[in-house]
Amino acid sequence: MSPRYAHITGWGMSIPEQVLTNKELEKIVNTSDEWIVSRTGIRERHIAGPNESTATLAAKAALKALQVANLHPDELDLIIVSTSSPEHIFPATASLVQDQIGAVKAGAFDLLAACTGFVYALNLGSQAIKSNGADNVLVIGSETLSRVVNWKDRNTCILFGDGAGAFVMQASEAPGGVMTTVLRSDGSGADLLSVPAGGSRHPASMQTLYDGLHYIQMNGREVFRFATRVMAEASQQTIDAAGLSMDDIKLVIPHQANQRIIEAAARGLEIPMERVMMNLERYGNTSTASIPIATIEALEQGRLEPGDKTVMVAFGSGLTWGAALVEWSGPLSFQRRVSSRQVRWTARTRSTLARLRRRIEGIFWGNG
Ligand code: ACO
Repeated sequence: MSPRYAHITGWGMSIPEQVLTNKELEKIVNTSDEWIVSRTGIRERHIAGPNESTATLAAKAALKALQVANLHPDELDLIIVSTSSPEHIFPATASLVQDQIGAVKAGAFDLLAACTGFVYALNLGSQAIKSNGADNVLVIGSETLSRVVNWKDRNTCILFGDGAGAFVMQASEAPGGVMTTVLRSDGSGADLLSVPAGGSRHPASMQTLYDGLHYIQMNGREVFRFATRVMAEASQQTIDAAGLSMDDIKLVIPHQANQRIIEAAARGLEIPMERVMMNLERYGNTSTASIPIATIEALEQGRLEPGDKTVMVAFGSGLTWGAALVEWSGPLSFQRRVSSRQVRWTARTRSTLARLRRRIEGIFWGNG
């Protein structure tokens, strides 16, 4: 059997309308626009509105990605949602997205590797395709970290923003797509960045609420030191694994956490900042969504074209870190137009009918 490649053939992002600027943050915590810009590079971030959540942002991004790929949701085999701010402990956010977009033949699960999650998801999606387990995979990074940030903690609340980005990955015999990936973890640093309560270790209680353990806790300096150490290293490892050199890489797309961390990575790789994508100024740290969002903006700016090689590299809670080398592709098929409105309408109708059917069955079986 000839080898299969996992190409990225569709992409979409969804950003909440509501903007929170550094100036507005000055009214919430003891901080300043000058401090935030000089220490992080962030000027503003987007915050999910009352009707938005991790699943709704993910579904919107997914529909746009499917439209670019010209792929109907019922052709999807697998949906992976990477998130650290899922809708619930369970069910998986991916299943809610599957229902919202009407991907009736797809398996769906969530992946948690914090800000590195999208790189992990690219690895899993491409492995599923390369091993013949799937033809069409949807990988999504989606976050509403504004819901788990302590708005009284200036160390963390200035950093994060909400948003989602999605890629469609498809099988093809033409070389290209996700070429190599490097995935790493060091759980000895688990306490450096966490949401301690709400899981099995510290179930939600009055005490955990009182102690604020359901909020993000972070040792910023330690995370900073770790990030500057691993970003260049992981990028180089994935380039080496592909038998390439940095000269072959058109653009590095790093996780958008902090301008100083990104600049340190560029220095480590000995490349100018023109070869590094950065858009955290307008979005803050959108965690696992930051790489797909930055990739889509790079495409819109003409900084990435079919045939170009790019390295996506990230770090995050876990600790986790990793990188993926991708040869950029583009849509495989231009034969028909997938209408997002029609897809959404069909998905909603199908979901309503399925719920109705369960209620009627419940009445007949005595569970109604
Ligand atoms: N406004 C004003 N002053 C502040 C603020 C603020 N928002 N936050 C902290 N400070 C103060 C501190 O209290 C400290 O004051 P002190 O010296 O009197 O104690 C001083 O500024 C310096 O604080 P540091 O923590 O040393 O500041 P630093 O330069 O390290 O920047 C930052 C802090 C931006 C958090 C940085 O450490 C960082 O970016 N770390 C990495 C964080 C990160 O990327 N996290 C996301 C990981 S991805 C994921 O998995 C979700």
